[in-house]
Amino acid sequence: MTRYAHITGWGMAVPEKVLTNHELSQMVETNDEWIISRTGIRERRIASDEESTATLAIDAAIQALEVANLPPNKLNLIIVSTSSPEYQFPATACLVQDRLGALNAGAFDLSAACSGFIYALDMATQAIRSGSIRNALVIGSETLSRFVNWKDRETCILFGDGAGAFVLQASEEPGGLLSAILRSDGSGGNSLSVPAGGSRLPASANTVAQGLHYIQMNGREVFRFATRVMAHASQEAVEAAQLKMEDIDLIIPHQANQRIIEAAARGLNFPMERVVVNVDKYGNTSTASIPIATCEAVQNSRLHPGNRAILVGFGAGLTWGAAVIQWTGPIGGRKIVRPTSLRVWAKFRSFLRRLIRRIEGKIWKGYF
Ligand code: ACO
Repeated sequence: MTRYAHITGWGMAVPEKVLTNHELSQMVETNDEWIISRTGIRERRIASDEESTATLAIDAAIQALEVANLPPNKLNLIIVSTSSPEYQFPATACLVQDRLGALNAGAFDLSAACSGFIYALDMATQAIRSGSIRNALVIGSETLSRFVNWKDRETCILFGDGAGAFVLQASEEPGGLLSAILRSDGSGGNSLSVPAGGSRLPASANTVAQGLHYIQMNGREVFRFATRVMAHASQEAVEAAQLKMEDIDLIIPHQANQRIIEAAARGLNFPMERVVVNVDKYGNTSTASIPIATCEAVQNSRLHPGNRAILVGFGAGLTWGAAVIQWTGPIGGRKIVRPTSLRVWAKFRSFLRRLIRRIEGKIWKGYF
């Protein structure tokens, strides 16, 4: 029996703090007109000290579970796609698992930069289609503002923080993720990187002094690469779904730069009115941008059950990918997921587990 992975829940979270182009122009030599004309970005959101990649991911995930009306203990898999994880380890996905009380879920992080959400969506879909799991939570979450050099005008104007999440559920009804193509070209890795902090260049006073923990980017090179791959990847995904461009209702691209999005639409001969763009409000939220744009498309009644959409992205690696989805919408039924009680119970359960672990530790110490 063929199984499909339907998107039955979605959610997004962005920090409250807005950083406008005007405010940036007081920090580095730039101006509103330059940023808008070269990127389309007007403002972006910046995480507060209390917010992090995990807290934004949890907020988006709880919304997605509420829409899907799926209790966390029914989840079998949690994938957090991120390039700004909470720690080297444990995985941010495990922090999310704990704060959701998703007791039956495996959890891991996925690193494919801005293309990561498409990669994660495909991994979760394949797990559902193989029959090994039924329900998955896929999250894209970033706080890249923590890795931006606020003195580098070429990068600090681009990035913003945020998270988006999808719940995927197995069904025998055709629909959900219809196809995905994933690609990479590691020869372009140095076009966009954070050079230090990994095993190659561990953190030292020297790496900090040289600013090697910040995002380094060759903007023109990334721009050329992006305009080359976006349309082609979209076409490949449409063919893999055995569809034609005429069957596509909406394109939801990675939100990096308005000009890159327009070039992709031109390459596909697809009208811009049917392309979702919100880069003006959030800047480039990396792997979170596609799910955030999807949530807004639903909110703004641009994506309806039965509609087919292309999700397409590119990013560091270099990586790129595209997927075709058929939108399902929420399944409905009696409301069983209540965000406030979910949060309280998960917190209490986590506290209890830590306490038990401490008590166990003391007992074991007595024996050995
Ligand atoms: N304000 C004013 N002037 C600026 C700024 C700024 N913020 N930044 C650069 N300039 C100047 C440059 O110094 C340059 O001056 P020069 O001609 O005297 O040397 C001039 O503007 C033009 O610079 P370009 O680099 O040619 O500008 P371009 O039109 O290419 O725009 C940009 C730069 C916006 C970075 C563009 O190349 C771009 O969007 N690239 C893609 C970046 C991207 O998408 N990165 C994220 C990938 S996703 C991920 O994995 C995280």
